[in-house]
Amino acid sequence: MRERVDSAAPKPEASADIFEVCRSYQEPSLVRAAGIYPYFHVLSESDGPLVTLNGREIVMLGANNYLGLAHHPEVREAAHAALDRYGTGCTGSRFLNGNLELHEQLEEDLAAFTGKDAALVFASGFLANAGVIAAMGNIDGAVILSERENHASLIDGARMARGRRHVFSNLTELEELLSTEQPGRTMVVTDAVFSMTGRIADLRSMVDLKRRHVFRLYVDDAHGLGVLGPRGAGTAASQGVNEEVDLLFGTFSKALASLGGFVAGETAVIDYLRHKARTIIFSAALPPASVAAAIAALRVLRTDAEIHKRLAVNTNMWREGLRRIGYYTMGSTTPIVPVFVGSESLAFRMCKDLLELGVFATPVAYPAVPYGQALIRTTTMASHCKSQLDKALLAFESLAKKYPLKQIVDDELPVASGIDFTYAFPPAHGASKA
Ligand SMILES: Cc1ncc(COP(=O)(O)O)c(C=O)c1O
Repeated sequence: MRERVDSAAPKPEASADIFEVCRSYQEPSLVRAAGIYPYFHVLSESDGPLVTLNGREIVMLGANNYLGLAHHPEVREAAHAALDRYGTGCTGSRFLNGNLELHEQLEEDLAAFTGKDAALVFASGFLANAGVIAAMGNIDGAVILSERENHASLIDGARMARGRRHVFSNLTELEELLSTEQPGRTMVVTDAVFSMTGRIADLRSMVDLKRRHVFRLYVDDAHGLGVLGPRGAGTAASQGVNEEVDLLFGTFSKALASLGGFVAGETAVIDYLRHKARTIIFSAALPPASVAAAIAALRVLRTDAEIHKRLAVNTNMWREGLRRIGYYTMGSTTPIVPVFVGSESLAFRMCKDLLELGVFATPVAYPAVPYGQALIRTTTMASHCKSQLDKALLAFESLAKKYPLKQIVDDELPVASGIDFTYAFPPAHGASKA
């Protein structure tokens, strides 16, 4: 008789009720009980740099609205007009019955903006990444090589693919994998700007590897398109390698002030994806107002010659202000400015204190970053004014006096084996400097 091998079979001590796992999931309740739960804050109003939370005006330093276009009059007007002309939703996938002129116009605009032959618009960035990586990874003999810090949508896309997949942490590991994998059907997948730390990928060196190895390069430029490079042309353009990027991903949920995502590249590949990416075929189309907002945001990007200057001024002022206080900003040069904290519970507590001081920023802890490397993710916008950033710097300064700052030498980050709970309890219990 063959032994039954079934890893999903319940262990003898496990409850038979699948809901029991949900009921015994304690972490959020513990963090709520400590009074430092930092997620799902309910905002009642927003004008971009300022939001209203519990009736109080708070300076927003936790959005991805880098150019401040989510509240730009031209972008709002375009969304209103599309709503009036087409209604609130497409009520079907683009594949069958939800494809509007507006979707096609946005794709043409994106192809021109990215310098690629064609583009394909999805209902979200996550759906675009997941659908495209899965479709490419399902091609016979495909191998996906994925950067360790990649966004969850890229990781999940690779998981959905039938082909082989490997993770690399640096260029040496990537080259080793390229040397051992069968050439020709390999796609290297990387974020251009890593979303938590603002680290910029060395796309130029990746492109150099193409001289020695056969592979296609997929770049997720969610945080670089519209922000970095000449007139926001993106990270690859800023490194002079836009042409060598084979598939370029972007989202409208950040600098482009809307919702939705896209991939751009060679016409035949885009047409293949149009018919193979399950997340476009089996999911409703991006709503008209969101499409129109993205079209208008691209137009503002082309016409407002000062917008990137305003963003750069704010980002420099913010980053230098934090450094002057003594915070370590992890070498970021983008509008994502991480404030290194170290202790997970301290990052949560500081964000709670920041809210009380009128500043919204988000803690980033394990598993998004390694144990002991928690940080506070801050982001600047072109539309922040100096007094808002000054107010936020004062708040960070008061926290630097209240809590011990981690001193980082030679960019060496601390390593820990688990979460630090010290600051889950009020600082009066001995965790603070005071
Ligand atoms: C690097 C990266 N890729 C993809 C996405 C997904 O984009 P969207 O929010 O449009 O689904 C995000 C959003 O958080 C991201 O940061």
